[in-house]
This record gives sequence, structure tokens and C-alpha cells, in this order.
Amino acid sequence: MLTHEKAVEFFQKNPALSLSVIEKEAGLPSSTLSKAVAGKRNLNDKHLQALQPVVTKYGFKDQQHAKAKVISIINHKGGVGKTTTTINLGRALSILGNRILLIDMDSQGNLTQALGIDELDRQVVNALLQSEPLPLYSIAERYDLAPSDLELAYADLELVQAVGGVNQLRNALAPLRPQYDYILIDCPPALNIFTNSSLVASNSCLITLQPEASAMKGVSNLFDRIFQVRDRINYELKVEGIVLTMVDKRLKVHRDMIEYVYKSLGDFPIFKTEIRNNVTIKESQIAQQDIFSYSENSNGAEDYMNLAKELISGSYRK
Ligand SMILES: Nc1ncnc2c1ncn2[C@@H]1O[C@H](COP(=O)(O)OP(=O)(O)O)[C@@H](O)[C@H]1O
Ligand SMILES: [Mg+2]
Repeated sequence: MLTHEKAVEFFQKNPALSLSVIEKEAGLPSSTLSKAVAGKRNLNDKHLQALQPVVTKYGFKDQQHAKAKVISIINHKGGVGKTTTTINLGRALSILGNRILLIDMDSQGNLTQALGIDELDRQVVNALLQSEPLPLYSIAERYDLAPSDLELAYADLELVQAVGGVNQLRNALAPLRPQYDYILIDCPPALNIFTNSSLVASNSCLITLQPEASAMKGVSNLFDRIFQVRDRINYELKVEGIVLTMVDKRLKVHRDMIEYVYKSLGDFPIFKTEIRNNVTIKESQIAQQDIFSYSENSNGAEDYMNLAKELISGSYRK
């Protein structure tokens, strides 16, 4: 992520760059950059958003993102906002200037369908079983997808039996990590080989929770699985945080459940941003678009943008 300080430092270290040319390319008012470098003004979020792709072209490299951070979006239950979060958190991060790859690890292929990709000739399963490169589809600027459909379901047993099968996704991602800032993996609603493979390939996992009465059922199994993968295979795996989704604060059951989540899972990071229940999100998926393309002023777009900024800032960590 480009910040005011990083931008100024980059221009100071590269005095041969023409500030006026870069301003023009980024569509900034003239002398914005010379004033910033002279310490006479701050670059705001809008400036930085416009600048990031331009300075990247001129060689700016964010050390923090020399290699993509890989995050599994996970929950053992279906219908709790995993796929929706993968799509829209990913898009928000890309709008903020990050290069994003989404991986569909659910054989239901909801992520793939929701982004309007069908009739797959190559998909994730080919990379898992035949060690082919992951197929990449460009959906929008800095926003790519490695898709799946039902074919993936048939790979289950073969992947379990293959030597090192659970490492195959990590192997397939390795050559791609320098090209992206974040890789988000949409996990299936089960603790199966595909979820295990995702956790093995990840730096961290982000758990979506819908504050319904059944939300906590099986959560201890989910955390047990995360810690087993961490203790046995992927020592660096972290819990990125818990995101509450489809929240309706008018409902007492939601307010009570959220309180209960903070009480019982408060040792883990919990994102301050809650994703409100918002029918526009449902509509956007039927229209096969992310929420920003479908309705950039919706509550859904606002919440996912806030979630992305919170993720980048790391402020949810204690
Ligand atoms: N914040 C939200 N507001 C309203 N509907 C939502 C929201 N998030 C997800 N949905 C809808 O809920 C359903 C399940 O979400 P999904 O992301 O597919 O869950 P999962 O991937 O965990 O199975 C989908 O129809 C989706 O459009
Ligand atoms: Mg899903």
C-alpha cells in the first residue's frame, strides 16, 4: 500500500523522475507532487489511489508486498459469507492499488460463477493433479481469478492419495506470489482436503461468522483444524481475524450473538468492521459483479472498503 511517506521517499530517492509527467498520468492537479515532496501538503487517499499504479510502473516496490500475502477465507459452514467476502474484500483491495488473485477452492464454483466465468477449459484442479500452472482469468484491473467448477469435487480422493497432495496448492501458488499483493482463497464449507490444502498454502486465515444462533456450532473443530495444520505442516499460519457478516443490529439475536462471540473468541483478533446485511450484495451476485461495480454507494461497498482498509492497517490486532 502506498502511503504519503512512502510516495515522498520514492520521489526523493528517484530525482530523475518528472513529477509533472507522473501527476499528469495519475490525473492529479499540477504541482500536487512538488508541494508534497517539499513538505507543503499531504497526499490524501484519492491521490494515493491514483498514484499507486503509476509509481509502480516507474519502479516503486512496496517491500511489505515483495511476495503476496496468502489468506484463506474459511468457515466449515455454508452460507456465512465466505465467497462474498472473497469477491468484495478482494475487489476493495484492488481498488486501493493492490494486485489481487482470487482462488476458487470450492467445487460448487460459486466464486467463479459470481464473477461471470463459465465453460472452463482449464481450472484449479489441473494445477492440483497435473502440476500445471494455475489458470488465471483477468476480471478487472489488478483483479484475477483462478476458477473452479464441479470437476474439483472428483479430485478429492486422488488428491488425498497423491504423494504430498496437500502441498500442491502451495506449490502452484509459489511462482505467482511475486506478482500479487494478496491471494485470497475461497474455501469450501467443509474441513476437507481442499480446506487443508488452502491452509497449508496460506500465511493466515480469515474466518467469516454470521451472528446466528448456530454460528458457534463446530467452531472449536474449525480452530482445532487450523492449529493442527499450523503445528504439523505450516508453522507460520496465523489467524488473521474474525469478520462478522450479514449483521442486522436491529435484531436482538444478532446483538446477543456478537456479544457472545467477543466473550468466547475474544482471544483472537476480531475486525471492528462488521458487514451489514445488505440486499444489494445479493443482487450484485445475481448480476455477476462485485459490489463496487454493481453499486459503489451501497452499504455493502462501504463495509467491504472499510474491511480492506482495516486489513491493510492491521489495527484489529491487539
Ligand atoms: N452482507 C450480506 N448481505 C446480504 N446477503 C449476503 C451478504 N453476504 C452474503 N450474502 C448472501 O448470502 C448467501 C451466502 O453467502 P456466501 O458468500 O455464498 O456464503 P458461503 O460462501 O459462506 O457459502 C449468498 O446468497 C450471498 O449473496
Ligand atoms: Mg462459498
